[in-house]
Amino acid sequence: MATESPATRRVQVAEHPRLLKLKEMFNSKFGSIPKFYVRAPGRVNIIGEHIDYCGYSVLPMAVEQDVLIAVEPVKTYTLQLANTNPLYPDLSTSANNIQIDKTKPLWHNYFLCGLKGIQEHFGVSNLTGMNCLVDGNIPPSSGLSSSSALVCCAGLVTLTVLGRNLSKVELAEICAKSERYIGTEGGGMDQSISFLAEEGTAKLIEFSPLRATDVKLPSGAVFVIANSCVEMNKAATSHFNIRVMECRLAAKLLAKYKSLQWDKVLRLEEVQAKLGISLEEMLLVTEDALHPEPYNPEEICRCLGISLEELRTQILSPNTQDVLIFKLYQRAKHVYSEAARVLQFKKICEEAPENMVQLLGELMNQSHMSCRDMYECSCPELDQLVDICRKFGAQGSRLTGAGWGGCTVSIVPADKLPSFLENVHKAYYHRSDGSLAPEKQSLFATKPGGGALVLLEA
Ligand code: GLA
Repeated sequence: MATESPATRRVQVAEHPRLLKLKEMFNSKFGSIPKFYVRAPGRVNIIGEHIDYCGYSVLPMAVEQDVLIAVEPVKTYTLQLANTNPLYPDLSTSANNIQIDKTKPLWHNYFLCGLKGIQEHFGVSNLTGMNCLVDGNIPPSSGLSSSSALVCCAGLVTLTVLGRNLSKVELAEICAKSERYIGTEGGGMDQSISFLAEEGTAKLIEFSPLRATDVKLPSGAVFVIANSCVEMNKAATSHFNIRVMECRLAAKLLAKYKSLQWDKVLRLEEVQAKLGISLEEMLLVTEDALHPEPYNPEEICRCLGISLEELRTQILSPNTQDVLIFKLYQRAKHVYSEAARVLQFKKICEEAPENMVQLLGELMNQSHMSCRDMYECSCPELDQLVDICRKFGAQGSRLTGAGWGGCTVSIVPADKLPSFLENVHKAYYHRSDGSLAPEKQSLFATKPGGGALVLLEA
């Protein structure tokens, strides 16, 4: 499993309307026929939010929505990139001098991250050019990982053009690292599930070393995704990186409090591992070591015995240099409690007690509360949507992905699905003020989909 490469499948393009349309558009754009296609899915995270970059396991599944790229390698060294969506402008650039501008999260930069990651991994400086046409149907900036799907898809495109081989695990690790060229300090969840997903099962994703284990979801329930229609592009603001830094600082202060070598510690999980205690005990240590009042940079420097200059240059990321308030207690409490909920969720799925849907729903509700109150990554619209979903039959509902907008995921007993969809639609999307853009409105039941693969025309 750990050494398996992404599959290559032969398909009759004429039998797949989306592929056929992409092939035709490719032909009218570049005047030729694609040599191959690559698809990489988006994901919905069922539970385990904002803990992957702290070293803790998460529990996502791939959705069927994906990024699909038609590719033709060419003899020049030029990359020509186009998108079927006219909102995303074309790009033409040298394939061997990739520049990624961190100040603007432009769509093509995600492609370039994937390409550059693979190029660097093999130390290739003469990558052949290619014509690529991208078609995505994952709602953007909605917490379903459209950007990581593009990074992963581009990574697999580049690997295929090079004619090299990598395992899914290696690809996921390279793409997780290379997406950081955009400037966000994400964990590895999105890229891992995009490569390691398998149809019909959610996955527990563990890190260091990266591995994925099947988690069988209850057959009597359906997972429903609903878009709050509030857009959140995590690369366009510093919210995301501030949380990563707060967790990093909390880890260092906890390590110092426990007389560990704090300067090497980056993640909250490392503190637990070094102390060899349970998550519940880590919650108690957090209460003893940290205070609920926010910390300012001066206090953090005093606790660690470092200068402001050292804090900025050695610990903080470029876009968090001027942050004045760090809520270390709340963030650490969220992370340790959320990590415990993931393990409980998996255990319930394995033991399958009669009331499992209710128990899983309760964990999802607790997760949302913790994201809202302790991690402060929700927003009023997400809170309202979660309430509506619960009111109309969800046993549990929570924000999914980075938050501050985007989608919710709800667990709904299968027999309640039709009325749930109808009522949530009426209550959330049918607003008299017409404030929600119709193209963003989406409410759909989802099933665990398969991972990234290469498609060849049969
Ligand atoms: C984004 C990041 C992930 C993860 C989630 C929050 O999707 O890319 O690595 O941190 O946010 O759980």
